[in-house]
Amino acid sequence: MCIDCRPGRRAFATLLAAGAGMAVLAACAPSEPSGSVSAGHTPSPTTGTTLPTTDPASVSPSPASPESSVAAPPSSAMSAQHSLSDPTSPWVLVNKHRPLEPPQFAPADLVQPGIRLAVGGEAALLNSTTAAAAEKLFAAAAAEGVIMALASGYRSYSTQAATYNGYVGSMGQAGADHASARPGHSEHQTGWSFDISDGGGACSFQPCFAGQPAATWAAGNAHKYGFVVRYPLQFHEITGYYYESWHLRYIGVEAATDMVQRGISTLEEYFGLEAAPDYL
Ligand code: DAL
Ligand code: ZN
Repeated sequence: MCIDCRPGRRAFATLLAAGAGMAVLAACAPSEPSGSVSAGHTPSPTTGTTLPTTDPASVSPSPASPESSVAAPPSSAMSAQHSLSDPTSPWVLVNKHRPLEPPQFAPADLVQPGIRLAVGGEAALLNSTTAAAAEKLFAAAAAEGVIMALASGYRSYSTQAATYNGYVGSMGQAGADHASARPGHSEHQTGWSFDISDGGGACSFQPCFAGQPAATWAAGNAHKYGFVVRYPLQFHEITGYYYESWHLRYIGVEAATDMVQRGISTLEEYFGLEAAPDYL
């Protein structure tokens, strides 16, 4: 398995930070039988149209990779189930097979969280639910002496395009596609994700960040505040991206804790969706 150790990545820490600086949950019926996940029974607040009753991708969980087992989807006993397609849902699954719909989606509830910021502009914004959870996460880390900063939060479609194109220019499209999402395919555009740093260390957006206190604390504690490390080590054949120890994704405390307790590493496996190593 390859790990995220490619040359040229350091230069993009600067690019990413610069690019970033430029810048109601859709609950479903909570009683799906094991093996299927509700993809939306409620009118979409974005389009006003009714979402598909069943997400085609959730009907038959596909083996994510030969070396990973397919996890059972979230238990139907969980207090709430959410859409996997609606970008305002905390469970929206965005990857190389599942672009945002609409592609130019922008959250209506972006706010700046009251946490240490390493960026300004739109990159300092998160959706309101993620911002509130991030404040708890950062406060808990600080209480244990761990310095953590918001290094990149919300990115508009246009900012993500600029970021992705920068990677392509530096490392070519194949390399870029393992490090940066194409516009319309990034969790950052949903407001549910953000990148952390330690507030100025040399390891920001680098493989060595995984060994820094901010990353190790987040890896062990983020689920208590509703977050998962979205692109874990050695799961790029499922997620499509190399290890990003800095990229946290909000899915709610109950689901994040469920993933940890069941030893499930990726959202693709947790929600019973196919692996997305490459664009279709
Ligand atoms: N780096 C992650 C995959 C993004 O660009 O959204
Ligand atoms: Zn990120």
